[in-house]
Amino acid sequence: ARITLRQLLDHAAERGYGVPAFNINNMEQGLAIMEAAAAVDAPVIIQASRGARSYAGDIMLSKMIDALEEMYPQIPLCLHQDHGNDEATCATAIKYGFTSVMMDGSLKADAKTAADYEYNVDITRRVVEMAHWVGASVEGELGVLGSLEHGGGEQEDGHGLEGKVSREQLLTDPDQAVDFVRATKVDALAIAMGTSHGAYKFSRKPDGEILAMNVIEEIHRRLPNTHLVMHGSSSVPQALQDMFNQFGGEMPQTWGVPVEEIVRGIRHGVRKVNIDTDCRLAMTAIFRKVGASSKVEFDPRKFLKPAMDSMRELCRERFEQFGAAGNA
Ligand code: G3H
Ligand code: 13P
Ligand code: NA
Ligand code: ZN
Repeated sequence: ARITLRQLLDHAAERGYGVPAFNINNMEQGLAIMEAAAAVDAPVIIQASRGARSYAGDIMLSKMIDALEEMYPQIPLCLHQDHGNDEATCATAIKYGFTSVMMDGSLKADAKTAADYEYNVDITRRVVEMAHWVGASVEGELGVLGSLEHGGGEQEDGHGLEGKVSREQLLTDPDQAVDFVRATKVDALAIAMGTSHGAYKFSRKPDGEILAMNVIEEIHRRLPNTHLVMHGSSSVPQALQDMFNQFGGEMPQTWGVPVEEIVRGIRHGVRKVNIDTDCRLAMTAIFRKVGASSKVEFDPRKFLKPAMDSMRELCRERFEQFGAAGNA
């Protein structure tokens, strides 16, 4: 059954668990997520980026979600627009059955100037007004992720935005977070606390300092009723990197966000945890393995089926680790 992000995260807050939000682009990823959720009885957030919507097409994507919902009627399902960039993206998402949208007003900001902040408050407030009229939820973002948009996510040296913007500019300011939530009335708030998108987040295993867990704790203390969202939360498991490279890949060694740090965040108000890279890697490591081990295979299902199984296991682990299992 389709539910809003607000309904789902209110439940998660009451019971103290976190919900992984997995990105989707195609049928195999959708099936992997729902099979995992059904296996452990977990509620689901499926999110689609603008890129996903244009890859699959809005009609295909929305009917695919309808199909998944019909196949798994017992699983609460929130369909969320990931990184919406303007009102039109958010409005058309809702038209196609999304029950939640992210208005990412931090996308435009290159630095934390007053004008950028005013822009973010203004556009987010307008999207919240529109979405709440029709019963959809809104996630806003405050702070600058070392992100794709700023060229900080996909760097192989793992240094992200270092040198371009100061660390303070990257992290969400707790005072500003209080003002932002009051001014916009967002249902959930994505915060910048040291993560970035993509596989190349850190050049060594990050500690609590690099991850600024204190920022999460402080914001949660000040905004106990606001659901916090962690972006860039793939863990980039070593075993998947190894499999990828064992079968011809040349991915440089990298570190993601350790699951135990995410679990710490969940103890301090983090309710939605965005994961895309791990799912991609779970599938493509298998593509390499199948391609390398059977050089005459040309049936795509022989690649896609084990890739789907691999992503399903990844999703199941996250549902269990974040405490979502048993809460559908
Ligand atoms: O925020 C980034 C997500 O991983 C989606 O990536 O824009 O390549 O679909 P994408
Ligand atoms: P990862 O690249 O760490 O999976 O982050 C995904 C994300 O934040 C999507 O919004
Ligand atoms: Na999002
Ligand atoms: Zn993100």
